[in-house]
Amino acid sequence: MFQPWQSVVISGKALKSLNQSLINEVHQRQIPNPDFDWTPKYQGIHRERQFGAADALYSALSMNRNDKQARQRAMLNNWSFFGAPHVVFFTLPIYLGIMGAVDIGIYAQTLSLLLKESGVDSCMQGALGQFPDPIKKQFDLTPDIGVLFGMSFGYADLHAAANQARTKRETLDISVKFFE
Ligand SMILES: Cc1cc2nc3c(=O)[nH]c(=O)nc-3n(C[C@H](O)[C@H](O)[C@H](O)COP(=O)(O)O)c2cc1C
Repeated sequence: MFQPWQSVVISGKALKSLNQSLINEVHQRQIPNPDFDWTPKYQGIHRERQFGAADALYSALSMNRNDKQARQRAMLNNWSFFGAPHVVFFTLPIYLGIMGAVDIGIYAQTLSLLLKESGVDSCMQGALGQFPDPIKKQFDLTPDIGVLFGMSFGYADLHAAANQARTKRETLDISVKFFE
């Protein structure tokens, strides 16, 4: 296997300063400028599931979906890593596109499961691929390397409101077709 991943793990002081520069970037830039194509919008059942997952989070946070400011504040928490002590950014050479993204997805899932086995929880965050410039600048990534997404991790605060949210899972017959 060609192992295209180049992960960047950030903690401590570096995390604090990155948090600040990411929040500044989001405020100044407003429009995301990701290294990879995140333009497709969810449609049909995928959009319904997206809303379902968002509703689970909003109701755990006692938020009204129509409260745009509260939604923006909740969104902004992505770039504070939800208070987690560590974040990992999954980066790969930009030229690989979807070919590399498949590998990174598998890699990230495996990492998340291995962390869980050690009692460490994590949160995948597509949002962490939306404003990559401060990350690339602070950690000297060369221009050919892109930030696909990130994952915050640490010991979970089981009492935190957001951690009470539960997303739905489709039944097996909907997600898998069997043939003999
Ligand atoms: C690829 C991917 C990207 C995601 N991006 C975000 C994100 O940017 N912000 C966020 O709060 N949750 C994001 N999520 C959802 C959370 O990581 C997490 O999946 C969700 O809180 C519910 O947990 P579940 O995976 O058990 O359904 C993303 C999930 C995946 C798989």
